[in-house]
Amino acid sequence: MDRRKFIKTAGLAAGATLLSGIGLAEVTTEKTKSMKIVVLTGSPRLNGNTNHMASQFIKGAEEAGHDVYRFDCTRHKVAGCIGCNACGMNGDCFMQDDFSELRPHLLEADMVVFVTPMYYFGFSSQLKAVIDRFYAINGRIKGAAKQAAFIMAYADTDPKEAEPMVSHYKTLLNYLGWKDRGMVIAPGMWPAGAVQNTKYSRQAYKLGKSL
Ligand SMILES: Cc1cc2nc3c(=O)[nH]c(=O)nc-3n(C[C@H](O)[C@H](O)[C@H](O)COP(=O)(O)O)c2cc1C
Repeated sequence: MDRRKFIKTAGLAAGATLLSGIGLAEVTTEKTKSMKIVVLTGSPRLNGNTNHMASQFIKGAEEAGHDVYRFDCTRHKVAGCIGCNACGMNGDCFMQDDFSELRPHLLEADMVVFVTPMYYFGFSSQLKAVIDRFYAINGRIKGAAKQAAFIMAYADTDPKEAEPMVSHYKTLLNYLGWKDRGMVIAPGMWPAGAVQNTKYSRQAYKLGKSL
């Protein structure tokens, strides 16, 4: 499908859809009741591009009346899952670290937002470690009526390079049975702060505000 057709189809399907210059960002405007939203950020650069977009998203979401809990994965100690299976995918995790702090928020959340820079065509390892620890609560979050969003920045400009991460996000949601509420994909972002005052920053705000 060419880009024109895609925009037309997406617009018809979503009612109101906002697309980025590379056609990957989508923001639906379906309104919901006040939600508990968990925002998981994955960049160690506190003044970086994805943390800026996360803040813009949170500003919009709070203005829309939602309750946001932000967990900066790089400022917490969360070890990678060791696959011991002690949790049985539905129980206590053998490891005692900062995931314990996040766990109740994830269980209660109506929505989870994944925010990460592209690191070698994938999620940052700090965010991925947190996602892997979902394993211990898998039985309680899989099939739960949760929503999600995806915010990502990368330095290159080829949309094809963003596809594996978008695909990862969509496959994760498909597995968990969660509903996507939108994506903001910001290409061409290299130095920290490059995303400020761009359409991607505004899209992140609008995504939060649209919920
Ligand atoms: C370890 C590392 C790996 C990266 N890998 C990629 C990459 O595969 N493709 C790309 O376009 N940019 C890559 N980048 C650049 C970042 O994705 C880009 O600078 C992004 O804007 C950083 O987001 P942040 O400011 O939120 O940390 C990489 C940067 C680092 C530090």
